[in-house]
Amino acid sequence: MAEVLIVKNKEEAGALVAEHIAAKVKANPAFTLGVATGSTPLPVYRGLAAQAEAGVDFSGITCFALDEYVGLPAGHPESYRAVVDREVTEPLGLDVARVNVPDGSADGVQTAGERYEEALRAHGGVDLQLLGIGTDGHLAFNEPGSSFGSLTRVKTLTEQTREDNARFFDSIDDVPMHCVTQGLGTILRAGHLVMLAFGEGKADAVAGAVEGAVSASMPGSAIQLHAHATVVIDEAAASKLKFADYYRHAQRNKPDWQGI
Ligand code: F6R
Repeated sequence: MAEVLIVKNKEEAGALVAEHIAAKVKANPAFTLGVATGSTPLPVYRGLAAQAEAGVDFSGITCFALDEYVGLPAGHPESYRAVVDREVTEPLGLDVARVNVPDGSADGVQTAGERYEEALRAHGGVDLQLLGIGTDGHLAFNEPGSSFGSLTRVKTLTEQTREDNARFFDSIDDVPMHCVTQGLGTILRAGHLVMLAFGEGKADAVAGAVEGAVSASMPGSAIQLHAHATVVIDEAAASKLKFADYYRHAQRNKPDWQGI
C-alpha cells in the first residue's frame, strides 16, 4: 500500500514535496524528475522555484513529462510543452534540451510513443515521478481500461477529462480529443511515485486508487503495485478514505530519518 500523508493544504503539500526533491537533487545533481501538468503539481513547482531562489542548483537535472495533447499548434499556451516550460524549465533555470515532453505534433504522433520510450530507456529512467489523478481515476492520460503494462502511446481522452480540462481552453470544442501519454507500465518503472490530490472533487478517485480493487477500471490503483509510492493529499481529498485514522497515526509516528 502506498504511504498516505494528509496535509493541511496544497501549499504545505507543495513545500513538503519540493523540500524532498531539493534534498535529492543536492545529493545527486543529475537527478531525473518526472513532471505532471494540470493544476495539482503547481504548488510543488512553486516550492521548487523557492528552493532555486534559496540557492539550490537544479541545472543538472533532467525532466520527463507524462503526456502531451495531440495536434495543438507549436507554442500553444496550453500545450504541455508550454506549460512545463512556463512552470518548471524557466523558474528552475533548466536548459530546455533537458526537459523532455512527448511529441504531440500531427507529423510526429505516429512514432511519438516508441521514441519517448527509447529516450526514457537511453536516459536510464525516472527517479521520482510526480502524479495527479483525474476525477475518473486516470493517471497521466491513462483513462479507465488502460492496461497496467501499457507504454507511451496515443490515447483518446474521455469526455469527462475533456470537460474537466475545458477550463484551460475557450471551450470544450478546443480541448484535443487525443493525447500521447506515458503508459501505466512506463510510470511504474519510476523509482518513486508521488501522487498529489486536493479538494473534494478528487475524494472518490483517491479512495479508489489507494484502497479500492487493483483494476484497469481504476488506473490510479496501479500505485498499489509500486514498492515506493507516496500519496500527499489534503483533508478534502482524504475524506473518503476508510483507513484515514491509521494514515494519520502512522504519519504522527513516522521516524524522522525516513523522509517521504
Ligand atoms: C497531467 C496528467 C493528468 C492530471 C489529471 C489531474 O500531466 O497527467 O493525469 O494530473 O488530469 O488534473 P488536475 O491536476 O488539473 O486536476
